[in-house]
This record gives sequence, C-alpha cells and structure tokens, in this order.
Amino acid sequence: MKIGVPREIYPGECRVAAVPETVGKLIGLGFEVSVESGAGEASNFSDASYAEAGAKIVHGAEALWGQSELILKVREPQERVGGGHEAELLPVGGRLIAFLWPAQNQGLLGRLAARKATALAMDAVPRITRAQKMDALSSMANIAGYRAVIEAAERYGSFFSGQITAAGRINPSQVMVVGAGVAGLAAIAAARGLGAVVRAFDTREAVREQVQSLGASFIDFKFEESGEGEGGYAREMSEAFIAAEQALLADNAAQVDIIITTALIPGKPAPVLITEEAVKRMKPGSVIVDMAAERGGNCPIVERDEVVVKHGVTLIGYTDLPSRLASVSSRLYAMNVYNLVDEAVGEGGFRIDRDNEVIRGALVLDAGELTWPPPRLEPSPAPKPAPRADELRPTESKTPMSAPAPRAPRPARKSSHGGHGAAAAEPLPGQVVWGGMAAAAVVLGAMGLVVPPEFLQHMTVFLLACVVGWHVIWNVSAALHTPLMSVTNAISGIILIGGMLMVNSDSKVALALGMVAILVASINVAGGFLVTQRMLRMFRK
Ligand code: NAI
Repeated sequence: MKIGVPREIYPGECRVAAVPETVGKLIGLGFEVSVESGAGEASNFSDASYAEAGAKIVHGAEALWGQSELILKVREPQERVGGGHEAELLPVGGRLIAFLWPAQNQGLLGRLAARKATALAMDAVPRITRAQKMDALSSMANIAGYRAVIEAAERYGSFFSGQITAAGRINPSQVMVVGAGVAGLAAIAAARGLGAVVRAFDTREAVREQVQSLGASFIDFKFEESGEGEGGYAREMSEAFIAAEQALLADNAAQVDIIITTALIPGKPAPVLITEEAVKRMKPGSVIVDMAAERGGNCPIVERDEVVVKHGVTLIGYTDLPSRLASVSSRLYAMNVYNLVDEAVGEGGFRIDRDNEVIRGALVLDAGELTWPPPRLEPSPAPKPAPRADELRPTESKTPMSAPAPRAPRPARKSSHGGHGAAAAEPLPGQVVWGGMAAAAVVLGAMGLVVPPEFLQHMTVFLLACVVGWHVIWNVSAALHTPLMSVTNAISGIILIGGMLMVNSDSKVALALGMVAILVASINVAGGFLVTQRMLRMFRK
C-alpha cells in the first residue's frame, strides 16, 4: 500500500505527520512511502533525510495525494489557497489519518464521505492504557504545557529562579497553574525546572498528589463539590462553585507573576476562571498564558492567537503551542501515527478491524459510512481480590490516562527486601491447609511427649506467628511495602535483643542460635535502612 505525507497548509503549521525515523518503520511494515517536497522543512527534516530513510519525494500536493492510498496528516484537510479543498484531493475510497475533531467538523466529514473515504481521527483515539503510544492529544498537550511556560518566560521581565547578586536580591517568580491535566502538569514541571515557585489548582482532588510530587503547592479550596467526572475526566461545576473559584483565583492572581490556565471539560466551552477584575488585581508586567483560548478561554479578555497587553498584564492566547516546538512535536506525533498504523496492520496489511477498540474509537468514517461517535467503552471490571496463579495476566484499563489505571492482579512475589518473609505464589487449596494443620498438630503432640514444656510453648507461638505473618504480608499492597519494611526492622530489633540474651547462655546450641539471630537480624536492619534510603532518594529531585 502507498502512504503519502503531504506538506501541511494550515497557516503557521510547522509539524509534519512522518519523520525520517517513522518513514523507515513504515517501510519496514511493508508500505511504500512518499513525502511531498518540503513537508518536513519547518520542523528541520530535509527532503534528503526522508529520501535517505527510503521515501520517494514527490513535488506538488495533487501528485502526492493522487498516488496515495493512505494519507498521513497533522491538521484536518483544509481549504487550499487559490481554490479547492484538500479533501477533494483524496482519491475515491482513500484512507486518511489526521486530527479531525469530528464533533466540530461536520462539513468536512460530509466532504470526506462523498469521497467514500475511511478516516481515523487522532483526537478520537481512546485514552486507554493500551493506546497510550497512540495518544497524540497527550503528546501535544505535554509539549504545549512546556511551551506555555517558555512563552511566559519570554514576555516576563525577570528571572524565574531567585538570585542573590552584589546588586541586590531578586525573588523567584510566582507561577500559578489552573487545571492540572496533562498540559497543566507539564507546565508545572517546566516552571519548577526554571526555578519558579509554583502553585496549582484543579477541581479534581485526585491530582493533588501529582501536583505536589512535582514540587508545587496545591491551592486549598473549601467547597463541598467534587470535580471528579466519569472515567477520571473533570465534570462541569455548579455556578456557585465557579463563582467561589473565581474569587479564590483572583486572590491568588494578586500574589503571582505568571498564570497558565489549562482548565477544560471535554466537549464543553472552557470555564471562565480568571475574570477581568482578577487581571486588574495582578501586578503590572505579569503574564497570563491561556491555553484554553481555542475553546473560548479561561480568561475572557485573552484574544485567541494574539499577544495583547491589558491592564498592564501581557495576555497570550496562542493555540499553536505544539507547532512552536515543531521538531519534537513532529517526532512524537509521527510516532503516535506510526503506532496507530501498526495497530491497524493485520495479516493482510492495513485493514479496519471494528473489533479492535482502539481502531473503532478512532474510526470516524468507514468507506464513506459515518461511524462516529463510537460505542461507549465499558469500564473495566474491578480487579479480583485474590486471583489464582493461572488467572494472572495483564489486564486492560479502559480508564482515561488522567485517571489511575486499575492495577493488574499481583503476580507471585518473591521475598521482599529487608528480609521480611517470602509470600506464597497462590492461595493454597483448602484441603492442603487443613492437612498441613492436622500434620502440625500431630507433630506437636508427638514432640510434647519428649521435649520440655517450654519448648512446646515456644514452638506453638512460632508456628502461629508464621501463619499470621504469612497472611499479613500477602495482603499488604505493594505501595505499603516500605512502611512494612520499617515494621520488620523494628521486629528485627526485638530479635537482636533476644539473640544478645541468648549468647549469655551456658548451652552451646543456644549460644550458636543467638549468634545466628544477631547476625541475621543485623543484616535485616542494615539492609532495611539502605533500601529505605534508596527509595527516599527516588522521591527527591
Ligand atoms: P485535560 O483534560 O487533561 O486537563 C484539563 C484539566 O482542567 C483537568 O485536570 C480538569 O480537572 C481541569 N479543570 C476543569 N475544570 C476546572 C476548573 N473549573 N478549575 C480548575 N481546573 C479545572 O486536558 P489537557 O490535555 O491537559 O489540555 C488542557 C488544555 O490545553 C485544553 O484546553 C486543550 O485544548 C489545551 N491545549 C492547548 C494547546 C495550545 O496550543 N494552546 C495545545 C494542546 C492543548
């Protein structure tokens, strides 16, 4: 099959849907790849680099589209300068992969349907765990969040990090990020990386920890209304909530130098959160980057695609932030596209498999038939509490990326660090447990005839401790292993004391056992401290 990669014609669009690396990979899948001359120029990929990767360079859009069975694009087909529409260049029955925004582009869908086209929308790829490598929305939002900070830094008249110089002390900039989704978290990371003091707010309480783990503070807001929507997305808040939030953000706006807003609810206009009054309260020279400008904006006085200064505050409303980092955006987008193509390639080459939930989710038109919106994905069933070993296999999460994916059932575990006991690979069948207990009772009874009563007493306590310990450790979730390790270290301390008392004994056996206990418990305590230190270092920057 022949793939064509045209040059993007949307004004200012610098990205391209395939880079030399993905051209090589597509050829590896058995495709012939043609690239329109100059397609990668704006993102620093020359025609020569595509040719070197094995692509054919084609001059002119008509020739490129006309000979391609599958077109890979970034933006949806556009009106062409000088007349005509890109959709009309698609051969009848052709296939197209691009950002298509089907909810907003009914007219375009009509045009494509008239060409009996099959179209996969990159923006409709379901946000499930398996499809993360095809999630172009997240790749682009991540880049956009970073770039928003760079744009703000360019317009802001001071350092992000504080400095103490011979000429005086400069305080670090204060940055506020509103909406801590993919773009917001990327903005927090970038601003922190530049040394700013960052605070953030989101209606979803679930992101508090993510914000804090990036070194930002989460703005507290006492309002009894949850922002958690279905499947980890945000839900629209009540008018009273938004009014209270506007007041909260206005107070914070007066204290910060830079605001980056990314708040959005899927399928809704962006909520107005930074009012004109709040802008008036900001310090002169402050900057606002409204990433939601494309959807109406979180700040009503920001102008889409413009940089304006109002009330002494610079307002940035760019909607092409990923394109402003065209090289990396193209690279990541091209990988997302390649992965989607790879997903669609079956034994007979590229084919639309409606049973494949990723392909079905992205499928907007199938040979001219409208297939959007796709059927709703059922949420994953909750993981079973104690799977048998033969049930252990990775589960698929159908939860959007922003929500924590349900954990796969735990595989059989080996002994954890710090020496706390080995756990069973699978729960033992009832007969084995009862059989084992009966055997232990018989052995203890027999021993009772020959050993001293104290020994029997200690042995019983030891065996009971083994059973209780076994059950406790097996039921502790992986996230709690570190605290568990501290507990086992404390227990090792008790063993150490016991061992020390034993070495005083006259009996050689007791002396030897005491020394072994001291050695093993010391290794456990020291090892526990080492592993805990390593884990703590992982959480530090
Ligand atoms: P996302 O859905 O992951 O994040 C949006 C966040 O806003 C969610 O965490 C949500 O809980 C939060 N939110 C919703 N209502 C809120 C409220 N009232 N107060 C505080 N937080 C609220 O979306 P993503 O991918 O992070 O994108 C964020 C925005 O950036 C979107 O508007 C998107 O269109 C835009 N974007 C802009 C680009 C540009 O070039 N300007 C490029 C890429 C994305």
